[in-house]
Amino acid sequence: MIAVASAPGKVILFGEHFVVYGAPAIVTAIDRRAKVTVERRDGNAIKIVSDLGIAGSFDDERYKSIIGGPRTREKLEPIRIAAREVLEDLGIGGGLDILVRSGIPAAVGLGSSGAIAVATVAAVGRLFGRKLSREDIFRLSYEPEKFVHKYPSGIDQTISTYGGAIRYERDKGTKPLRVKRPLPIVIGNTGILRRTGDLVARVKRWKGENQEHFDQLMKEAQRISELAVEALMREDLLELGLLMNENQRLLDTIEVSHPMLDKAIEAARKAGALGAKLTGGGGGGCMIALAPLDKIEAVVRSLEKVVEPIAAKTTKKGVISLSF
Ligand code: PMV
Repeated sequence: MIAVASAPGKVILFGEHFVVYGAPAIVTAIDRRAKVTVERRDGNAIKIVSDLGIAGSFDDERYKSIIGGPRTREKLEPIRIAAREVLEDLGIGGGLDILVRSGIPAAVGLGSSGAIAVATVAAVGRLFGRKLSREDIFRLSYEPEKFVHKYPSGIDQTISTYGGAIRYERDKGTKPLRVKRPLPIVIGNTGILRRTGDLVARVKRWKGENQEHFDQLMKEAQRISELAVEALMREDLLELGLLMNENQRLLDTIEVSHPMLDKAIEAARKAGALGAKLTGGGGGGCMIALAPLDKIEAVVRSLEKVVEPIAAKTTKKGVISLSF
């Protein structure tokens, strides 16, 4: 038997960084997905092949690289952890062949590791004839995300599991947002890889040196996210665009933008985007632009000169799995 599962990546529409200090963030799943295929194999080894061009095999704590050398372990370990979590939860042993194909670029803030973890958990569950509940998939995806992000807020695995859009607030948790139609967005990938943790530390320093100013920005961030929730419900793209621009101004002030992000944001706005901002940790990674449908192509063409454009739609579709 073979089991397959796929899960979506995400973009943060509003509230990154300020969410760390208690402001709400708005996050949505996108129609870029990670797909994981699993099959049983003899013995106890978990063999993982990834379309990043790397492969390796875990036999208990021993790791053997098949393609890419010993440093591939760090990249494949979270996938092994995801599979192990399910096997332990179901009280099952045995070997696995895992194939990962991801349409979500890695390390640029689009939630690729979360989507891979969620899809791996769902696929392994399916292989053993269990259609895990979404709550179980979410719970079992925590350990692999912890391995990658150290202190994950849980946003990525939530959105990859459930799909759709959510309002996330540190102390109040997650609230699903019923957005009727997909939002027309374009993602621009600078290709500059960065670690979210480094950017979070940079903001912490900035906050320490500019406490009063930061408090004021927090209030603005809070207001922007609240207004954005209402605008999303009304499908008011014009207002959403304006709020994105305002949000970008705050992110620029706390110094998490990057000249390439600024250039791409400017290019998108000039080509007719209603709003544009960085998405995720910043310092490189990706930006997003919201554009009316008839301007999407112009925005893509304009972004092409600066970054790699990724046309994407927001989606309601969370994790799905099947076996045959
Ligand atoms: O770049 P990403 O997708 O890892 O997003 C980081 C979002 C932050 O608000 C900067 C950090 C966090 O844990 O919420």
